[in-house]
Amino acid sequence: DDSKMGVKGLVDSGITSIPRFFIHPPEYLPCTASVAAPLPASIIIPTIDLSGFESDRRSIIVDRIRDASSKLGFFQVTNHGIPFEIIDRTIAGIKAFNEQPQEIKVLHYNRDMGCSVSYSSNYDLYISKAASWRDTITVNWGPNIDISEIPEICRSELVEWYREVQRLGETLMEMLSEGLGVERERLKALSCTKGTTVVGNYYPPCPQPDMTLGFASHTDIVALTMLVQDQVGGLQIKHGKHWVDAKPVPNAIVINIGDLLQILSNEAYRSVEHRVLANHLRQPRISVAIFFNPSKGEDFYGPLPELISPDKPALYRPFTLSEYLIKFYSKELGDKSFLSNF
Ligand code: SIN
Ligand code: FE2
Repeated sequence: DDSKMGVKGLVDSGITSIPRFFIHPPEYLPCTASVAAPLPASIIIPTIDLSGFESDRRSIIVDRIRDASSKLGFFQVTNHGIPFEIIDRTIAGIKAFNEQPQEIKVLHYNRDMGCSVSYSSNYDLYISKAASWRDTITVNWGPNIDISEIPEICRSELVEWYREVQRLGETLMEMLSEGLGVERERLKALSCTKGTTVVGNYYPPCPQPDMTLGFASHTDIVALTMLVQDQVGGLQIKHGKHWVDAKPVPNAIVINIGDLLQILSNEAYRSVEHRVLANHLRQPRISVAIFFNPSKGEDFYGPLPELISPDKPALYRPFTLSEYLIKFYSKELGDKSFLSNF
């Protein structure tokens, strides 16, 4: 089964053109899509300095987070308290996993997203129109995770990353709640930081980067995503007709609002489409994301009652998390009608 080679395996085999399977329809490609008016200089993904969030600067920070979350759906944070070495080690761990010999890596190959650990390229391989130029290792970090299932080559790195990032996730959920004008603990109390998935992405250099994408445009279905990336770049966020670069900022963490938080906030916050370009450079791009989600499948979710009024009626009906996930995994990646089904 060739798909077990991953995209990196294809590149290592010396191909000079990409298999048809990876060619995306022209309307989705950066070079052929109709060119929008130049990007206004005012549209950038803000970098928010978190220092002083527990004291004097908190209200300023909350305002900036609210502003970014309602307009672009994305921001970056610095002075977040996570040691830089831990970010570097996390990225290095995912790089090492992907660059170990094929025979070893393939032992972890598994397309079952319900498992603790799965490594594959393109989890949506069999349902998408075109595959993306990336390989992915996914760790479902539920309360019952068996740490020993994480490949040893990146185990201690991911465990350390998980511990640090969990705390920051809770801090951000608190400030996002404050930004909505609801109780500080509100989103945390919905267990919004309890169901987590860690995803390590490896985007090999591509011989024909103009014909494919590192990751096709999509929104994140979760409540909140936090991501670290190396310095290669390629992540872009959609804003109106424009694609805005999420430029690598050393030691910063990229934060974005997911579909579920758009729903809970009754669209005060926006879950925004984003994509990753394939690159022609000699080196790969690595990113590591953590997705925060509620953990209770049978609980009902919908717009928070505090945010509903005669002026602002609920934009979504309540649903259970299980129902939501089943719908998601049966859709095609990039199907924008997903949210409108709720
Ligand atoms: C993602 O959208 O989940 C991945 C983005 C990235 O690799 O920068
Ligand atoms: Fe994403």
